[in-house]
Amino acid sequence: MERQDTYIFDLNSPAELARLINQDRFLTQAMGGPLAGLPDLPAQAKVLDVACGPGGWALDVALDRPDLEVAGIDRSEPMISYATARAQAQGRKNATFGVMDITQPLDFSDATFDLINARLLLGVLKREAWDALLDECTRILRPGGILRLIEPDDSGSTNSKTFEYLSSLAIKSLWNGGYGFSLNGRSFGLGPALLHKLKQRGYQATVSSFVGDYSHDSPGWADFYHNAEITTPQLRIPLIKAGELTEEEFDQLYQQELIEMWSEDFTALWHFVVILGIAPTR
Ligand SMILES: C[S@@+](CC[C@H](N)C(=O)[O-])C[C@H]1O[C@@H](n2cnc3c(N)ncnc32)[C@H](O)[C@@H]1O
Repeated sequence: MERQDTYIFDLNSPAELARLINQDRFLTQAMGGPLAGLPDLPAQAKVLDVACGPGGWALDVALDRPDLEVAGIDRSEPMISYATARAQAQGRKNATFGVMDITQPLDFSDATFDLINARLLLGVLKREAWDALLDECTRILRPGGILRLIEPDDSGSTNSKTFEYLSSLAIKSLWNGGYGFSLNGRSFGLGPALLHKLKQRGYQATVSSFVGDYSHDSPGWADFYHNAEITTPQLRIPLIKAGELTEEEFDQLYQQELIEMWSEDFTALWHFVVILGIAPTR
């Protein structure tokens, strides 16, 4: 049977690759660095980034800690080729990348990794696919190893009426499509669900959060604006198909959203939840 691609965006598109390069930069900065908030890892520790995209986070770790062995996996061949080329160009011998589908059993032996990082899988995994991935991560983590999940709490919280309206439609559309764990379709609901899932698997799990400021006068505004400029049009067909908006309404709202983001008063915060689990020692 042919495997289903559940990613909400086109994982082979150059525009998506460029968007993820940009997004990685501004998210890792908002996190305070690639390893911020994690216990110190011993030399030679093995690190895996799940659905690593163009490899930004993994390459940052490889640069900060040349003594670690860092691997990144993603289903997208163009993203993995890009990440591999970047690792070679930067001389990062401690970073390797491979194509792998995270909805399938992972091609790693039991108890291989000391740290597994997974950021922004909201639009990758349908809600029923999370359990199998968490089981696979638990299998390939060494006992006492760390699993870190980083997911958005919202799609940006702003003072733009149009941004907020389109965001509410996007959240509902994702929920209707089978993504996230919200009980009523008004949020992503990933934080509580994933925290619970790690505790169920015997992890010692804790949560924290971070927030990025993408207001008009902030250094991150341009990145946030370009992200919205690329992601919003991808809602066009699903929202029209779902009968939420006509083509004209969507196009008008999209233009209006961009205009409001250019306002000098535009204020935007983007909240993320970080779930840190220490794997059971069995
Ligand atoms: C939102 S991006 C997050 C990228 C990266 N984790 C980050 O935070 O910068 C989601 C990534 O999942 C990848 N992806 C989508 N479906 C996948 C699958 N079934 N297996 C592995 N990777 C997948 C996409 O190619 C994309 O790189």
